[in-house]
Amino acid sequence: MSPLHVTRTLPEDATDAALRADVQHGLTADPKTLPPKWFYDARGSELFERITELPEYYPTRAEREILTGRSGEIAAATGARTLVELGSGSSEKTRYLIDALTELRVYVPVDVSESALTQAGQALVEERPGLDVHALIADFTAALTLPDTPGPRLVAFLGGTLGNLLPAERAAFLASVRALLSPGDALLLGTDLVKDEGVLVRAYDDAAGVTAEFNKNVLSVVNRELGADFDPGAFEHVALWDAGKEWIEMRLRSRAAQTVKIPALDLAVDFAAGEELRTEVSAKFRRDGITAELASAGLELTDWWTDSQGRFALSLSTAR
Ligand code: SAH
Ligand code: AVI
Repeated sequence: MSPLHVTRTLPEDATDAALRADVQHGLTADPKTLPPKWFYDARGSELFERITELPEYYPTRAEREILTGRSGEIAAATGARTLVELGSGSSEKTRYLIDALTELRVYVPVDVSESALTQAGQALVEERPGLDVHALIADFTAALTLPDTPGPRLVAFLGGTLGNLLPAERAAFLASVRALLSPGDALLLGTDLVKDEGVLVRAYDDAAGVTAEFNKNVLSVVNRELGADFDPGAFEHVALWDAGKEWIEMRLRSRAAQTVKIPALDLAVDFAAGEELRTEVSAKFRRDGITAELASAGLELTDWWTDSQGRFALSLSTAR
């Protein structure tokens, strides 16, 4: 069994500096916002895994259905010897791909969540003794330096996480993925699709309240890392569909007028009663739109697969 290699591409204090900058900027903006990448400390990653098992949260099951049926085709089309996965989390669905890719030598999971990455990586080196697992603790929106591994390379970005980037961030991100691809390499992208508003809102406001807990977890992260005194109970979870932008927005609504202190930033943040803080967008896509976004980044969509209910799509693209 090869040991798990873990590389941190950011210095230890870079996350801290980035969190400070995002909190300073986002909580002094109008409207207030926080980027969704800060959900994912160890507890946030565990809560996300619980979300994937909720009856209302269909994306994980829909994408798993596609991977179960199509991994053989993906393997035949790419012949990948290296699989790079951005935002890999638990790498649970990735096992279908890993098993189908008969030429696969190296798996490079990339995630900001060190706990998710090391747990998933350790499990994989034990389950697949012939596979070299090189885990990267990194922010996929920053410049990525990948280890020197054999091609062809398949870059997977699953789960619909592309939808958590704002449109300008998406364009920059896709261009940076394009820059990682050499001739013969490919991008496998999971995108959630536009559908009935009720289905979407229920997926982000489940009856058991797990998504609400996940949403409020970002406040606990800011409390722990920056010494803030957010009371998560003083905020209400909100999930709404923006029909114009075709995205779900998660927000935290202040139940009363309150002031939150953030000592590490020497900042006091006032919330009016009912004021909302945006914590995530989750964009939903249509085939034409994502094909055009990929094309703008220099990528050509070559294959498109959906689950049997047409809720979620996996697409394969190559550099143009
Ligand atoms: N791909 C998995 C997990 C999706 S959850 C699935 O389909 O189930 C989103 C994952 O992306 C989390 O593990 C989170 O830690 C990671 N993530 C979010 N923003 C990130 C960023 N900017 N850079 C790297 N990882 C990020
Ligand atoms: C990771 N990402 C694709 C999830 C989504 O559906 O946008 C995160 C999530 N937010 C609330 N529930 C799940």
